[in-house]
Amino acid sequence: MSADTQKKAAAEHAVKIVDKGMKIGLGTGSTANYFIEAAARKVKDQNLDTVFVATSAETYHNAQKLGLKLINIEDAPFLDFTVDGADEIDSSYRLIKGGGGALHREKIVASSSRFVICICDESKKVDTLGKFPLPVEISRFGVNPTAWKIERVLSQMGFESPKMRLRANKEGKPFVTESGNAIIDLDLKKIPDPERLEAFLNSLPGVIECGLFIGIFGILMMGTDKGVIETTRK
Ligand code: 5RP
Repeated sequence: MSADTQKKAAAEHAVKIVDKGMKIGLGTGSTANYFIEAAARKVKDQNLDTVFVATSAETYHNAQKLGLKLINIEDAPFLDFTVDGADEIDSSYRLIKGGGGALHREKIVASSSRFVICICDESKKVDTLGKFPLPVEISRFGVNPTAWKIERVLSQMGFESPKMRLRANKEGKPFVTESGNAIIDLDLKKIPDPERLEAFLNSLPGVIECGLFIGIFGILMMGTDKGVIETTRK
């Protein structure tokens, strides 16, 4: 079974929770898009008054095109739940996110939700985070000094010659997030202590948000060849 089929199955499993009167956060990425499609079908078929908050312009446009009612996060500071994908997830429900560059808004929306569901294919499940480069959103003012501080923190934490790359867009220019920031991707191979790394990175002036999501996601719905496996964080 392909990764896409697994993603779609996970999204269709998650949509069972969608109900009338709910306010739901929508993540960004291909898996989140499958959830948007499934939610749009359900809302239309059952004539639900459910409303949604988007984590990116791409998600907003996809949801709007399919007829979902979107509201502004400022008008919905508390959401019933959020559904989002992952770049990596470990057995403690710690995630790397931000492959699509939406990590800042994804973290704000997810952490404003009563519970957060990760939908993904089984390739996203890892023993140790870090094979996927960790995105760190930083201010565009002082990119070099912030990069230097990140390098120093990584060296203090014992990462040996980690590769750091300023993310570029398709034109080869520095990628700019929807919040107007830059992203540095850290190729760390293995992150033995994600909590410590997150605390260090987020304490640096110039760092807006790092792509580690810890203690935020509580439910995992993972598409596998044997069907969708749903588990809850202990
Ligand atoms: C975007 C994200 C996505 O959730 C992550 O990149 C997974 O993407 P996909 O569902 O396309 O595999 O964090 O910022």
